[in-house]
Amino acid sequence: MTSTTAPAVDLTEVDLTDPSWFRDGPPHELFARMRAETPIRWNETEHFGGFWSLTRAAEIAAVSRDTATFSSHAEGVFVQRDQVAPLDLVRAVLLYKDPPEHTKYRKILQSAFVPATVAKMEDDIRAVVTRVLDDVIEQGACDWTQDVAVRVPLLVLAELMGIPEDDVPRLYEWTEQIEAAQRAIEPAQAVETFMAMAMYLHEQVERQAAEGNSDSLVMRLRAAEVDGETLADPEIMTFFALLVFAGNDTTRNTTSGGLLALLEHPEQLEKLRADPAVIPQAVEEILRWTSVVNYFVRTATTDTELAGQPIAAGEKVMLWYASGSRDEAKYADPQTFDVTRSEHDHMAFGGGGRHFCLGAGLARLELRIIFEETTRRLHEIEQAGEVQRLQSSWANGLTSLPIRFRAGARVG
Ligand code: HEM
Repeated sequence: MTSTTAPAVDLTEVDLTDPSWFRDGPPHELFARMRAETPIRWNETEHFGGFWSLTRAAEIAAVSRDTATFSSHAEGVFVQRDQVAPLDLVRAVLLYKDPPEHTKYRKILQSAFVPATVAKMEDDIRAVVTRVLDDVIEQGACDWTQDVAVRVPLLVLAELMGIPEDDVPRLYEWTEQIEAAQRAIEPAQAVETFMAMAMYLHEQVERQAAEGNSDSLVMRLRAAEVDGETLADPEIMTFFALLVFAGNDTTRNTTSGGLLALLEHPEQLEKLRADPAVIPQAVEEILRWTSVVNYFVRTATTDTELAGQPIAAGEKVMLWYASGSRDEAKYADPQTFDVTRSEHDHMAFGGGGRHFCLGAGLARLELRIIFEETTRRLHEIEQAGEVQRLQSSWANGLTSLPIRFRAGARVG
């Protein structure tokens, strides 16, 4: 992945909320300089006030683990209070909760994501990936992002939620609308989207209850009980919205960025082909390398300090996971893409605290199957056109990756 950094840039002038820094992907040279020179740096912005920019893994992990001092609930997880939707609305979402509320809800919700439940999805996910590849394989060319990376997580989520496949285009539209709202300077764009999702989910609950479908995530969550607590329908709705937001374009962007990294390092792609047993390890390196959620934000609840830097109550800290995943203190040669790397302590799924990605097991499974089936069935893959990128400082994603290939072994 390339970087947009001129080595001589004056760091005091840099505003990392300006998407032009991310035009060619995250500015990794700039992050490296910040880690070395000003790892806790005040960043004034044009539109949203200022925040402390944290670029080293150590501080990102420390903040992630200290939810009492660094809140997700007080001011949300973006720089701007009402980013995506009004804070008072989205505060009900798990990602925005602090303990003890967060602990209670996470306990109920994670019952649906325990490893045994996720492992049971392997056959269904392989069937989805097989079908998506079947649709492109005879053409010998496709847009990897639009034809494969977009479709797989949407179809998996529909399967998980017991949603009819005909409704997948609606899930896609909602994902795009929430993502666009995240990038908008004018906040609170996604309220209508959330309302539409609430109405849709209500219909789904009624339909699935009438059909006696007890196996879908929606119905399992309705039945789930922890310490005598159950989830009300509006809580299931907010969780559904979070899954659409958190589970879709993250997996898509990792799938897109992962193949691009492999095409840019053909000797690494060859290692996956030569020995598919390497793929789980390669998935970890792809997660580290792409680290597609560039950041989340926390707000200090009290005057505190980080590595000697005073942080005042009410000030925001931005956790640059994209930088933490390439911290020299954690990784030998972090700017090298190496699918056989043994250190896997990356920050693609967050800084390791209570909000650590709930869908990490599912995402890893989807990515493993995508790269297993792709390396088995698509041979001599080449980039066949220019890569298009999302213009965002928060999401590291591609909107187009044209490829061509030779069809290899068939399924079965
Ligand atoms: C490669 C794909 C994915 C990436 C890179 C990713 C990344 C992240 C990150 C960075 C966080 C915040 C962690 C923190 O604040 O410490 C998060 C939270 C979350 N993710 Fe993922 N995610 C992915 C896939 C998924 C999937 C497939 C699902 C579910 C279908 C999912 C569900 C969630 C949920 C529910 C949370 C909130 C957890 C909480 O607040 O306790 N994610 N994810």
